[in-house]
Amino acid sequence: MAFDTIIELQDVSVFQKNILVLSNVSLSIERGQFCYLIGRTGSGKSSLLKILYADLPMVDGFGRVAGTDLLGIRDREIPFLRRKIGIVFQDFQLLNDRTVKENLLFVMRATGWRDKIAMEERMEDVLEKVGLSTKSFKMPHQLSGGEQQRVVIARSLINDPDVILADEPTGNLDPETSEGIMQLMFDISTSGRAVLMATHDYSLFGKFPARTFKCEGGRLSEINRP
Ligand SMILES: Nc1ncnc2c1ncn2[C@@H]1O[C@H](COP(=O)(O)OP(=O)(O)OP(=O)(O)O)[C@@H](O)[C@H]1O
Ligand SMILES: [Mg+2]
Repeated sequence: MAFDTIIELQDVSVFQKNILVLSNVSLSIERGQFCYLIGRTGSGKSSLLKILYADLPMVDGFGRVAGTDLLGIRDREIPFLRRKIGIVFQDFQLLNDRTVKENLLFVMRATGWRDKIAMEERMEDVLEKVGLSTKSFKMPHQLSGGEQQRVVIARSLINDPDVILADEPTGNLDPETSEGIMQLMFDISTSGRAVLMATHDYSLFGKFPARTFKCEGGRLSEINRP
């Protein structure tokens, strides 16, 4: 592999409109690493993730995600970056008027898949990874919260991304279900991807110890013990 650092920021400012949320952000995450992103509500976790998937513009410093430079990225390059990133949100964001299978096919069509057989195979692949092979015909409302979140994770894996960015993916789940989702995210990281997960769920840290970054007082720092 050409380089193992898959997420890199150096001296980056994170703005929401003209408000400086975080300054001098530096971090470096390697392939195969799982990392937590913690901090109080409003401290800048979601904003930082948005910088990484180019939903917020980067205006200074250096930033590179999966080989793409963030500073001065053009609008037409953003879809290319997003194909290398799997994004998992707390609130699922599934299309509720269609089945699990149709949700996945929708994303595939939107990201340039055309070959029907290949699409079917890939869909079955990612559903198997998250343990939902038998549920592809279900509507989202026919699934539990944990199952819906696994569909979202399956969706994030469709294009075999190098990086998974997850914003409180266990926020709406009970502790047992959260643990299953965590195990899955952990397994994903050990398969050579980098996973950065914003969370408030401190109960996970004991069972799943990992590098931890904290947003606090307008800064990001790595801490030893959450
Ligand atoms: N769309 C927006 N427009 C303007 N300001 C925003 C916007 N989104 C967030 N902010 C502000 O940016 C700061 C950081 O918010 P952010 O959502 O990154 O925090 P967070 O750490 O993710 O919080 P939480 O734990 O509640 O999700 C807050 O002061 C927030 O009010
Ligand atoms: Mg947030």
